[in-house]
Amino acid sequence: MNASTLSFRLAVLFVIAGMAMGIGMAATQNHAIMPAHAHLNLLGWVSLFLFGIYYERRPALDASRLARIQVVLWSLGTVVLTIAVAAIHLGYPAADPIAALSSLAVLAAMILFAYFVFRPARDLAPGPAVHLTPAE
Ligand code: HEM
Repeated sequence: MNASTLSFRLAVLFVIAGMAMGIGMAATQNHAIMPAHAHLNLLGWVSLFLFGIYYERRPALDASRLARIQVVLWSLGTVVLTIAVAAIHLGYPAADPIAALSSLAVLAAMILFAYFVFRPARDLAPGPAVHLTPAE
């Protein structure tokens, strides 16, 4: 599976979980895990979907193992960070080091993504060209 498909699939799973969390908070009138909900939706849905769009526009990168590693690292970091942040806000401060470690995993995944964005364009094969016909 290429990196964009993996990103899109994981992103919709994350947003379903995030929305369920939001509905749970609203239904119980207990917003204690709001920071976990916000992180899950913004890292797991918004950011991951944006990665997917970027990868889909760069077919050579999309097919690479390193891009898949970036998506997997980001996703694992997001899951663990969400659980740890929820635990902290539910009164389990012992989860703090887990939140710290997972935040470093997410940061590492973003640094890897930054490498993709900044590396020379010659490393990337161009995507399919869009041919526009000028109006006469
Ligand atoms: C079924 C869908 C959703 C429900 C029912 C829901 C519900 C909630 C609730 C109850 C809160 C707590 C508000 C507060 O305590 O002030 C909240 C906060 C938040 N939600 Fe959602 N949410 C949903 C989807 C989303 C999505 C898709 C995103 C992002 C793309 C998102 C991002 C956020 C953020 C960033 C906050 C924190 C806002 C703040 O700091 O005041 N939510 N949500």
